[in-house]
Amino acid sequence: MQQKIIDVILLCLCLNGVFGDEVKSVSVMEGQNVTLHTDLTELHTHDVVEWMFGVQSPKQIIIAEYNREANSTSFNTDRFKNHLEIDDQTGSLIITNITTQHTGLYKLEINRKPSVLIRHFNMTVYARLPVPVITIDASQCSSSSSSSCCSVLCSVMNVSHDVSVSWYKGKSLLSSISVSDLNIRLSLPLEVEYQDTNTYRCVLNNPVSNKTQHLNITHDCHTCSVGVLSCGSTETVIRLVLSVVVGVATVAVLIYDIRCK
Ligand SMILES: *[C@@H]1O[C@H](CO)[C@@H](O)[C@H](O)[C@H]1NC(C)=O
Ligand SMILES: *[C@@H]1O[C@H](CO)[C@@H](O)[C@H](O)[C@H]1NC(C)=O
Ligand SMILES: *[C@@H]1O[C@H](CO)[C@@H](O)[C@H](O)[C@H]1NC(C)=O
Ligand SMILES: *[C@@H]1O[C@H](CO)[C@@H](O)[C@H](O)[C@H]1NC(C)=O
Ligand SMILES: *[C@@H]1O[C@H](CO)[C@@H](O)[C@H](O)[C@H]1NC(C)=O
Ligand SMILES: *[C@@H]1O[C@H](CO)[C@@H](O)[C@H](O)[C@H]1NC(C)=O
Ligand SMILES: *[C@@H]1O[C@H](CO)[C@@H](O)[C@H](O)[C@H]1NC(C)=O
Repeated sequence: MQQKIIDVILLCLCLNGVFGDEVKSVSVMEGQNVTLHTDLTELHTHDVVEWMFGVQSPKQIIIAEYNREANSTSFNTDRFKNHLEIDDQTGSLIITNITTQHTGLYKLEINRKPSVLIRHFNMTVYARLPVPVITIDASQCSSSSSSSCCSVLCSVMNVSHDVSVSWYKGKSLLSSISVSDLNIRLSLPLEVEYQDTNTYRCVLNNPVSNKTQHLNITHDCHTCSVGVLSCGSTETVIRLVLSVVVGVATVAVLIYDIRCK
């Protein structure tokens, strides 16, 4: 009886939007099993649980339904085929081997007559990151003012949203570049001296993971060892190349924008 009263109070709070308006953000990596929790310890006998996907109706579709009394589950959609399970104790939704296609808004509705418990989730699924590639910066190879420096580029192809590329010297960040919503090539230059004994690494990051490639000066500078630039101009060059890369990215954004329109 007491539990019932508490439940009714909780459900009323939900109906009044105390829980209902809150959107819980979930960020995960492709390939994981993800559980969207109802936060209930146990369903009631007459509960009917509905999980929905998509923006507000009419585009929102029911992807899973669980009737506690009948202990019957139904899944209804192509996009989630073979990716869904429902926990029969709690009504929580389990998305197995999640893909980037499953990014979007989810809504939970538990019908517990005469009330409805509602929860919203905003799921972002990030693609697996490739390992960044370090190459000699061939554009710098022709100038032969000094033989003590080496210019390298850390690049990555086909990355999507919220990805950044950074150079670290030991533990300190040297430079970083990011593009928020494009599938293009990202490149970040670095200049080192052949005699440099510090450890350099290039790190590719998204909000849920990272991949690292270490610079091996002996190996990576090999092909352009006749000398490239004078080290004094390092900063200028980094600035110059950075601005070119950012310029290209900006143009790409513009073209993308125009195409879309
Ligand atoms: C994800 O869930 C599936 C099915 O329940 C299971 O076979 C698989 O091992 C799980 N994978 C991980 C990474 O937990
Ligand atoms: C629901 O049915 C499945 C078999 O389909 C069974 O394993 C499970 O224990 C049942 N759950 C409950 C809570 O009765
Ligand atoms: C997960 O999905 C990918 C394709 O999306 C597939 O290649 C892989 O085999 C799946 N893994 C499991 C454990 O089902
Ligand atoms: C969902 O999350 C994405 C990325 O984190 C954000 O851009 C979007 O505005 C969020 N949507 C809602 C409805 O909270
Ligand atoms: C990048 O994507 C394009 C088209 O989507 C594909 O043809 C190309 O092989 C990809 N490159 C890499 C390095 O994955
Ligand atoms: C990369 O991820 C690991 C965990 O996988 C974490 O310990 C490390 O701090 C991350 N590095 C950066 C630079 O984000
Ligand atoms: C760096 O590259 C050189 C030449 O390819 C190789 O002999 C050496 O083992 C590499 N060092 C590391 C730490 O990988």
